[in-house]
Parts: sequence; structure tokens; C-alpha cells
Amino acid sequence: MGLSLLSMVCLISFSSNYVTGLDNRRSTVEEFAVPDDVYKFLWSNNSYISHETLKLDFLKRMESGNLPAERYINFTIQDINYLVNVTALLRDLRDKVKEPADLSQFLKGKYESYKNFAISFLNQYNLKGVSDIKPTPAMGKYLSDYAAIMKTKEPIYFVVSMLPCSRLWVWLANNLNMNENNAYIQWKIDNMHGHPEKFKPLLNKYLDTQEKVTEANTVFRQQMQNEHDFFATS
Ligand SMILES: *[C@@H]1O[C@H](CO)[C@@H](O)[C@H](O)[C@H]1NC(C)=O
Ligand SMILES: *[C@@H]1O[C@H](CO)[C@@H](O)[C@H](O)[C@H]1NC(C)=O
Ligand SMILES: *[C@@H]1O[C@H](CO)[C@@H](O)[C@H](O)[C@H]1NC(C)=O
Repeated sequence: MGLSLLSMVCLISFSSNYVTGLDNRRSTVEEFAVPDDVYKFLWSNNSYISHETLKLDFLKRMESGNLPAERYINFTIQDINYLVNVTALLRDLRDKVKEPADLSQFLKGKYESYKNFAISFLNQYNLKGVSDIKPTPAMGKYLSDYAAIMKTKEPIYFVVSMLPCSRLWVWLANNLNMNENNAYIQWKIDNMHGHPEKFKPLLNKYLDTQEKVTEANTVFRQQMQNEHDFFATS
């Protein structure tokens, strides 16, 4: 269904080069096809994954405070490796992408915040680096997917690929009911106040055709699934 709509839009755009009478119809179809708010569309189109994630054993047990500490330790070790690994990708992207200016600025800002977060996380656990951490299969796949997106797609899709982490964790933290003496309350507090809406202007500006929105949705869904699978295997 999605595909046939897409090819229909392409067909109409194509014909309108020849038949000027179709110009009005073409813009009507495109306005219908591209959501007004792509940032919101990506989240709502994949919200079933966020709801499935919230129901996973790891988060349910965190919520009730009876998650075995060893599982949380494993999760934290993987998370540190994730942060350091994605920081390295962001550093490469920051060096590579010089324009458009707003995209370049965004990547620079993300790199700085990932880097600072990674450094403070490493310091908090007295670690010099992550080279001895073996990624679990789920984390290995997630990180390879990031690298593949960076290598094969336009930089805007790397921005899309980072949004599931930003948006899902804030949503999960806000949707976990924990009382103050829950052993895991700090995870909720630390993750409740992120600002995923900072992604919104860029996504809504650059994902301006049905084709780009479809591609973004594929990337977004894949990375939502990777987040889900990280929690599911933790
Ligand atoms: C997701 O988007 C596609 C394409 O626009 C649409 O066909 C589908 O119904 C949407 N699904 C949900 C759950 O919103
Ligand atoms: C922690 O990770 C190791 C290595 O993957 C695994 O063998 C162990 O069972 C995990 N511990 C828990 C409590 O899940
Ligand atoms: C990031 O993780 C991937 C997948 O595990 C790995 O292949 C790559 O070498 C890692 N990058 C760095 C800088 O550690």
C-alpha cells in the first residue's frame, strides 16, 4: 500500500513535466502524502514498539524494584560501550559534514554531548575505556546498524537513527511508576528530562518528500527495534 502510493506520487511528478494541467493535482497528492509533522509521525507510527518495550521483563522488574543487580550491571556495561562507540561515529560525522549549517551544528552539538556524557560515565565507574567490553549480539547489531547508516545514507538519516534512543528513554522513564526508595529510581530521574524535541526542526525541514519520509521511517523503526532488543536481552 505504502509502496503503491509512493510510485503513484513519482508517476504524477513525472507526468507533470509534460502535462502542466496536472500541476495542481500533483501538489495536492504530495501534501497529503508528507505528514505535517514528520517528527511526530515517526514516533506515532512506531509507538507499538515503545509499548512493547515498556512491558519487557527488564523494565517491569526495574519498575517493581526486583530486577537482579547482575542484570543491571550487564545492561550498564553494554550502555557504556554504546555511548563510547556512537561518540566515535559522531566525531567522524562532525568532521565530515560541513553543510548545511544547521545539520552540521546539530551533529557538532550531539558529538559534544555524547562525548561529555561518555567521559563522565567512564569516570563514574573508574574506567579508562571500553576496549575490553564485548558487545552482546543485540548490542553488536545495534552498533553495526549505526555504522551502516552512517556509511550508506545521507547524514539526515543518521540524525533519524539517533532519535529512538533519545525519545524512547525519556518516554520509558516518564512511564515507569517508581517510588523514591526503589533501587533503580536514579535511572528514572536521570532519563526523565531529555529533550528529544530538539530533533524536530531538522527532521521536519529536510524530510520533505514521501520518499524521504518512507526511508526515515524504515531507519527509525529499525533503531526502535534495536532499542527494544537491547532491553529484551538485558
Ligand atoms: C504507518 O504509516 C504507514 C504509511 O503512511 C501507514 O500506512 C500505517 O497505517 C501507519 N501505521 C500506524 C500504526 O500508524
Ligand atoms: C551477564 O552477561 C554475561 C555475558 O553475556 C552472561 O553470561 C550472564 O548470564 C549475564 N548475567 C545476567 C544476570 O544476566
Ligand atoms: C563499534 O561497535 C561495532 C560493533 O560491535 C564494532 O564493529 C566497532 O569496531 C566499534 N567501534 C569502535 C570505535 O569501538
